[in-house]
Amino acid sequence: MNAPSSAPQSRFAASAPQPKSGILEITPYKPGKSSAEGVANPVKLSGNENILGCSPKAREAFLAVADQLNVYPDGRGTALRTAVAQRYGLEPERLVLGCGTDEVLHLICQTFLEPGDNIVQGEFAFGAYGIGARACQAEVRSAREPRYRLDIDLMLELVDERTRLVFVTNPANPTGTFNTRGELDRLLGALPASVVLVIDAAYAEFCTDPTFTDGLDLARHAQNVIVTHTFSKIHGLAALRVGWGYAPAPIADAIDRIRPPFNVSIPAMAAAVAALADAEFQARSLAHVETWRAWLTQQIGGLGLEVTPSGANFVLVEFPKAPGKTATDAEPFLASRGLIVRGLGNYGLPGHLRITIGLEAHNRALVGALADFLKD
Ligand SMILES: Cc1ncc(COP(=O)(O)O)c(C=O)c1O
Repeated sequence: MNAPSSAPQSRFAASAPQPKSGILEITPYKPGKSSAEGVANPVKLSGNENILGCSPKAREAFLAVADQLNVYPDGRGTALRTAVAQRYGLEPERLVLGCGTDEVLHLICQTFLEPGDNIVQGEFAFGAYGIGARACQAEVRSAREPRYRLDIDLMLELVDERTRLVFVTNPANPTGTFNTRGELDRLLGALPASVVLVIDAAYAEFCTDPTFTDGLDLARHAQNVIVTHTFSKIHGLAALRVGWGYAPAPIADAIDRIRPPFNVSIPAMAAAVAALADAEFQARSLAHVETWRAWLTQQIGGLGLEVTPSGANFVLVEFPKAPGKTATDAEPFLASRGLIVRGLGNYGLPGHLRITIGLEAHNRALVGALADFLKD
């Protein structure tokens, strides 16, 4: 058999199967650690999960479908599609449901990116964008983020005729910073009509600043905006893997053509629908984050560490460069106290740690441990 003309000769002639070019250069996504050596029952503050758990109604709904494990889910996800559309006032046909936002992001990359295309993101962008783009043999362009915040002009400078996707995380992970409605308007206005602006609003429910937007207001009337949301954060359903995107109808239609048909399971869908209706749990989660985010920012700042103002359910903390006092030293020190936080070397922030807001006892233990760590 002849090699297909598009396949590089070297791959055809290789003595073993070869992944397509670029795959082996991808750095795999590294999740937050969940164990600490020698410490029983450590507290995980490394994954930006909901420390309050999930809505009791979501848990009940999850358990109630236990006798349906033998059947496939509704491939259109009608119940969840309808619930999201009603809750946010969106057109159901413009929604794309996914196995977590992660899948939606990958589907967006697969739908738009060809080898030689590029994406534009911030230098500290969430890792999934780059992985999704590189898997499509696209180039990843990262704009500098002065003061750990996306700068619209620096992003626009990187856009050229091969740019297909521009990613904004609002609020951003791992920095916690956000961009205003005015800034996103300006970015969208300056982008060519052929470029899709993807606004990842995974943490949007934690940001109540009046200048903030999750992007849905922009997306409603634009031909080139996709907004993604997740059930993993404020709804506390990270284990079930449910996310969604809101896209212009032609884009939703295109993505749907490559979407795995049963990508949101029955238990996930049932729990997500119930979670969406539980306004009390959402309000409680938000109130908890707002209270303890302010407290942690003030207390950690009081220890002399720089805390970046956060609109999410975590804080970014900068450590000194002095030997013994660095972020790399602090991470195992905190782990030895049973507090697992997130080192950010793979995000290009080796001098920082990202700390998910915990329960009151966790937060107090964290500040106490940091004070001990910083002692001479
Ligand atoms: C910015 C951002 N987007 C997306 C996700 C992934 O969300 P999901 O759990 O829905 O895949 C995360 C998870 O941490 C995130 O931080």
